[in-house]
Amino acid sequence: MTQKFPDGFLWGTATAAHQVEGGNTASDLWLMEMMKDSLFAEPSGDACDHYHLYPSDIALLKALGFGVYRFSIEWARVEPEEGFFSQAALDHYRRMIAACLANGIVPMVTFHHFTAPLWFTRDGGWEDAKSVDRFARYCERAGQALGDLIAYACTINEANIPIMVTMIREAVGVAGSGRREAALAEAARLCGGLPGRFAPYLSGNGHATAPNLIAAHRKSYEVLKPLVRGDVGITLSLNEFQAEPGGEGLRDMADHAINGQFLESLKGDDFIGVQTYTRVRFTKDGVRPPRDGVELTQMNYEFYPEALEACIRQAATVSHCPVIVTENGIGTEDDSRRIEYTRRALQGCLRAIADGIDLRGYIHWSMLDNFEWLEGYRPKFGLIEVDRATQLRNPKPSAYWLGGVARRNEI
Ligand code: BGC
Repeated sequence: MTQKFPDGFLWGTATAAHQVEGGNTASDLWLMEMMKDSLFAEPSGDACDHYHLYPSDIALLKALGFGVYRFSIEWARVEPEEGFFSQAALDHYRRMIAACLANGIVPMVTFHHFTAPLWFTRDGGWEDAKSVDRFARYCERAGQALGDLIAYACTINEANIPIMVTMIREAVGVAGSGRREAALAEAARLCGGLPGRFAPYLSGNGHATAPNLIAAHRKSYEVLKPLVRGDVGITLSLNEFQAEPGGEGLRDMADHAINGQFLESLKGDDFIGVQTYTRVRFTKDGVRPPRDGVELTQMNYEFYPEALEACIRQAATVSHCPVIVTENGIGTEDDSRRIEYTRRALQGCLRAIADGIDLRGYIHWSMLDNFEWLEGYRPKFGLIEVDRATQLRNPKPSAYWLGGVARRNEI
């Protein structure tokens, strides 16, 4: 039996600048990837050369049947030195947004997706309260240059992930932290920064960054709202937090620190972007790893597409904002599992819609196989395979399948 999605439902795919563009040399992570004893499995390098190949990539999205493209503009390109704004970089992104519009694709633009300019991270990153004004100033310049063409703006990607990573680090203990601290100290030395000040988004102290990230979103929302033609919101990393008997207290504490405090701060926003990959199970002592024999993805996450429905419901109930799924997907070499995962996730979307939740779209992570941060290029999240030697694109069966779902607006 087929089931229809509401008219006007948004169907798209997503990428992030650093993961696909290549050559992001003024960013903090470029330095960390290239240095000796890097924490990264490999450097991002040329990535998918999307910086140059975006016209054909956007045309391919259109041909496959998608109507929305979510991508990020790179702060490190737009403001490679503090106070210097690159008109050439802004012009590039304007051409990219125009290419979406020329193909009838709705552009959803993220202003910060994990990477930052090296000068920003060298000087405390998001741990420093100055981050709020620094980010707002960049949003203002980029919004002035691009806003009239932007249908959806996401201020910060997964503003709650630094605190999540920090709390996981604390729960797991100090194992591995020596290597991390040595890498941060070495990066600080290489860029002439002070030891202890170099704070990349995902490796900084999440307790210190959370209030600044919330304030930066509030301020950049106000800055962008009059500049952007369409809607402005934020995206959060929401996994379904479940409790085993006795684990409710720990679950609720973690849920408030990681999800609740952010969702509660969003009242009045135009939308909340939900990004879900799996569930997390709490016992009274901590997080329980997936049971033996359970299907795991390439990220070692439990294969659990039903988490999306729970996270959509939580986001809608706590934030009172319309919801857009801005990321959902799976790292796998077996594309048939991607289709199964996505089909089950979409059935959850339909159940939420049937219950009256204002869910406006589903954007799959990711358009392309790309640079999966510390893991390098091993995990395959793409609907489209990329041969990184030739940069040829090869859509997988899942791309044709999801593009067909998008065209028909039903599963
Ligand atoms: C991030 C993406 C990442 C994806 C898969 C999300 O947390 O926004 O950049 O590639 O998860 O791990």
